[in-house]
Amino acid sequence: MLLMEKNNLTEEIEALVKFYGSNRSALLTILHEVQKKYRYVPDFAQQEIARLLDIHPVEVYSVISFYAFLNSTPKGKNIVRLCQTITCEMHGKKEIATAVERELGIKIGETTKDNKFTVEYANCLGMCDEGPAMAINDRVFTHLTPEKAINILNEIR
Ligand code: FES
Repeated sequence: MLLMEKNNLTEEIEALVKFYGSNRSALLTILHEVQKKYRYVPDFAQQEIARLLDIHPVEVYSVISFYAFLNSTPKGKNIVRLCQTITCEMHGKKEIATAVERELGIKIGETTKDNKFTVEYANCLGMCDEGPAMAINDRVFTHLTPEKAINILNEIR
């Protein structure tokens, strides 16, 4: 990352800290804001947030690791989260995963070369009676079949 970009990032984080406060309780909100803009929380941002909130960088990293919606590495523009919890598992999650992997040419956990899609497993999306389910960014899709999942991906492409 260039020095100029780092300065901008520091200024942005300083502005967020000014707005949300330098209390530890502001951490999640600030991380969310950085994630929203950059689609991940770069290492340098983690260090700056830790410095400005006066907490250890490990604490920042562990919060990022805990929440599925926060990432410490760049992800694709569209994040596909396939539910791997028991009800969806029993209703064909494996077939959906195979179809998605084949369609995008990547394995679960990977990002396509054009950075359009990252595919991950997620835990229950709260649509158990309509599974198998997957979320793409903020939208949840239910009653999936392999064909339906592929059509959804192609609409988003
Ligand atoms: Fe898949 Fe709940 S088990 S949405």
